[in-house]
Amino acid sequence: MANNDDRRVLIVDDDRQVRDVLHEIFLCNGYKCQLANDGREALEVFRTTRPPLTVTDVKMPVMDGLELLKAVRELDPDAAVIVLTGVGDIKTAIESLKIGAYDFIVKPVNVDELLIAAERAVEHRHLLIERREYQATLERRVAEATRDLALTLRELQDTYRSTLEALGSALDTRDVGTEAHSRRVHGYALTIARTHGVSEQEVKDIEHGVLLHDIGKIGIPDAILLKPGPLTPEEWIIMRTHPEVGRRLIERIPFLRGALPIVYHHHEKWNGTGYPLGLAGEAIPVGARVFAVADALDAMTFDRPYSKAIPYEAARKEIQRCAGTHFDPAVVTTFLSIPEIIFEEIRRRSLEP
Ligand SMILES: [Fe+2]
Repeated sequence: MANNDDRRVLIVDDDRQVRDVLHEIFLCNGYKCQLANDGREALEVFRTTRPPLTVTDVKMPVMDGLELLKAVRELDPDAAVIVLTGVGDIKTAIESLKIGAYDFIVKPVNVDELLIAAERAVEHRHLLIERREYQATLERRVAEATRDLALTLRELQDTYRSTLEALGSALDTRDVGTEAHSRRVHGYALTIARTHGVSEQEVKDIEHGVLLHDIGKIGIPDAILLKPGPLTPEEWIIMRTHPEVGRRLIERIPFLRGALPIVYHHHEKWNGTGYPLGLAGEAIPVGARVFAVADALDAMTFDRPYSKAIPYEAARKEIQRCAGTHFDPAVVTTFLSIPEIIFEEIRRRSLEP
């Protein structure tokens, strides 16, 4: 902390008489004084004791006052320095102000003038230090608050994520009957999306969308959702409302808005024969186009209540066959470029506890 009561002064003059007079003046006004005979001696004293105020003559042997001023200001940019100049030496006076002297006093010294300048110089130094400390404190507080906020945000995102995963698993258990399904489609979709060059922000949205894609099935009665047999045309109409039910659930939650494209469009088909809107081609959000391939891969390669699993190679061929009708051909090309071993690894990890 800056100490405004630090009344120490370093007096520098090669003229012993002047030095003694200055010493007397400052002593009588409550200053503790240190004395030096020339610039170099003064610099040594300054280096070890860092007095807040230095009063120095200009013309001295070994090291003059201006050199001393420069050296002192380098050691302490807030150092208060008053320079004593001879009558008519206005050039030196201006030079001293340029290189950081707080003030100059013309010799012979007027005591009051010197003491007022000294008080002001010390006060000015004090204000500079206080302002810097205040700024540093502010910056520290902002940095701390930013860190705390980032931490809280991360915790919040983790909480959201866990909640979504739990919700995704719960939806799966009711519908497909296995929570590993959700994890596999999640892994497949993110791998295909990243390979397809989708931005990381969109990947995050896809992640949420995959976990929640069938959230609208909450609104489908068990009698239809779990019906052990084919649905009637009327039941299909109800079943096909689940993207719309999902959209209405999700759109009111700002954090989940990124999931909307998949929740609402995951049953659209590239050729426009899907639902709910019958969108075609690139009018279908890219996340939904990626999801369609990932979901189909999983649906074909794992047993479902009414369809037996087929080998990976057969599923791959089927997806390739449906490029341009059900699936986005570009996404299929991306999918085909990914080695099977990557999908195997995702399958293996989805079974880990
Ligand atoms: Fe669905």
